[in-house]
Amino acid sequence: MSMTPKPTPESSGEPPETGPAPVLEARKLHRMRQVEGREMPIVSDVSFALHKGEFATIMGPSGSGKSTLLHLLAGLDRPTAGDVLVAGEDLSGGDEEYRAAVRRRRIGFIFQFFNLLPDLTVEENVTLPLRILGQNPKKHRERVDSLFSLLGVSKLRDRLPSGLSGGEMQRVSIARALVTQPELVLADEPTGNLSSKAGEEVIGLLRDVCTRLNATILLVTHNPRDAAAGDRVLFLHDGALLSQSEMKGGPFDVADVFHRLQELGV
Ligand SMILES: Nc1ncnc2c1ncn2[C@@H]1O[C@H](COP(=O)(O)OP(=O)(O)OP(=O)(O)O)[C@@H](O)[C@H]1O
Ligand SMILES: [Mg+2]
Repeated sequence: MSMTPKPTPESSGEPPETGPAPVLEARKLHRMRQVEGREMPIVSDVSFALHKGEFATIMGPSGSGKSTLLHLLAGLDRPTAGDVLVAGEDLSGGDEEYRAAVRRRRIGFIFQFFNLLPDLTVEENVTLPLRILGQNPKKHRERVDSLFSLLGVSKLRDRLPSGLSGGEMQRVSIARALVTQPELVLADEPTGNLSSKAGEEVIGLLRDVCTRLNATILLVTHNPRDAAAGDRVLFLHDGALLSQSEMKGGPFDVADVFHRLQELGV
């Protein structure tokens, strides 16, 4: 019996296989702003890609452009130049309506100050993104129940946000960010307003839930412990990524992240 070897892409003349498209790609992003009457670069020539399932963090001093960059990546702000691709869809092109549609379907955003609507119950807050997408939350009951349970907030469903602790509010906002099963989760200092213990719990939960849902996370943080929990740390300085300083292959030792920050003067 003759065995014909399976043709390799090279021998068959097919183009070599490329990996899956990144979930997030920033290409030469720039954002200028008027500061005291002068155009100043706030984000400069930022390029990187995140792949499915990655948990990356961005660290940098206050004012280095972290929130500005995250807003560009979420399509909440437009770059002066460059492109943002989320699951291959160009967020830097199109009008506001198009960007909002991509954002609602593909991105979950977690804020430092939670941004829960005070007059809605926890459950109403969490299911709001579904209603905005025109979906009936009752049809997604299993998913909603399982998120509440994974995040340990099942008992809080009927409460108003004013009756929650900071850690509870952030767990509820994580449930809200994940309820539409976004491919990409962006978080701006999600532990910045929490006690150290609550912050640690929130990062652990976020990591756990995103792994289960196969979501990709990019998280801005000042806290080396948060960054140590990720797979990769990107350092931002004066709006530019210090790509030579990027850390890969986490989780890391907190002391190593701290040491790198000191070396960079960040
Ligand atoms: N709307 C705006 N108009 C003008 N300048 C702005 C605006 N928003 C931010 N900036 C400036 O852009 C720079 C970067 O701000 P940004 O909020 O992105 O920094 P950051 O790294 O998130 O800081 P922090 O760690 O304090 O949250 C700062 O110098 C800030 O003053
Ligand atoms: Mg910020």
